[in-house]
Amino acid sequence: MNLKNTENQAFSNLIISWYRENPRELPWRETSDPYKIWLSEIILQQTRVAQGLPYYYAFVNAYPTVKDLALAPESDVLRLWQGLGYYSRARNLHFCAKLIWHEHGGRFPSTYDALLQLKGIGSYTAAAISSFAFGEVKAVVDGNVFRVLARYFGIETDIASGKAKKEFETLANELIPKENPGEFNQAMMDFGARLCVPKNPDCSTCPLQTSCFAYKNGLVGQLPVKIKKTKVKDRTLDYVVIKCREHWVWKKRGTGDIWTGLHDFPLIETAPLPLGEKEKPQPLPKKYRHILSHQRLTASFSELEIPAEKFPELSQWCEKEGFMLVAEKEIEYLAKPKLIVNFLNDQGI
Ligand code: ADE
Ligand code: SF4
Repeated sequence: MNLKNTENQAFSNLIISWYRENPRELPWRETSDPYKIWLSEIILQQTRVAQGLPYYYAFVNAYPTVKDLALAPESDVLRLWQGLGYYSRARNLHFCAKLIWHEHGGRFPSTYDALLQLKGIGSYTAAAISSFAFGEVKAVVDGNVFRVLARYFGIETDIASGKAKKEFETLANELIPKENPGEFNQAMMDFGARLCVPKNPDCSTCPLQTSCFAYKNGLVGQLPVKIKKTKVKDRTLDYVVIKCREHWVWKKRGTGDIWTGLHDFPLIETAPLPLGEKEKPQPLPKKYRHILSHQRLTASFSELEIPAEKFPELSQWCEKEGFMLVAEKEIEYLAKPKLIVNFLNDQGI
């Protein structure tokens, strides 16, 4: 047996022996009836165990077999589901029960692939049901499993990325023992939910400690890696380009926003227009777009020509408001954002 297999087996043995010492006694673990296991897994899809338990009991009590569920009126099923939320789960449950009863002669699909065909059953639920009820060697993979494996094996793949699912699924399916796949899956669920929890896991009591990569390397807080997608915001910039005697009013941008230190123009909403001009700024029709890492910019420009005799007043106004009066010929020497350069190109500057 090669080293990797030995390591994998060590992990599986540790997880399973931890589970045998710390089992949660849950009613769906006492049965191998695929119908009841399916019921429990659908209930637990978006619901915590403590909240799901009374619903599980209520359903098993009201509908002890798939036939009972299939023959029940939908309104009764939904009534019993009341309070759990995500009602499509209940509708799919009912739909599948009818399908199994009427089309499959009441026999529950017994393989991972066949289960995956049912409405409301994804890879996690199909792996759970097929391993618990039929002993199929298929690993469950969800956020808990990502976390446990990322920490124990030191996997730095971003769990929010597209390739994470495949990578962790491959590893989990290498780890799951052929002899007792269901027990391994239950152990992974419980270990992730109760010991190797997201925040401050109690590693000091963890039997995997001495071989856990994250623990050995002080990286428990850093694993798993989850890179938050930064939200890209839309932002509009309405510039006013003020001109007088072949000089233009510019603004040097400050810190704490985009384009620190680069030059653009006063914004209409923030610039009290100079000198109480009677003329209104003339909007130019073309819009300019630019995408930054966090912002999608759309800029529009208006022009305002100030009469030549008011140049001294304009100059004073600029000083007071923190703007710069720049001769047209000098504009090329200013550091400018690309969007502004594009605008200037259209203006023949
Ligand atoms: N969450 C999803 N399935 C579960 C199960 N079978 N036991 C405990 N928690 C679960
Ligand atoms: Fe998780 Fe800590 Fe155990 Fe490693 S030592 S598996 S991080 S609980």
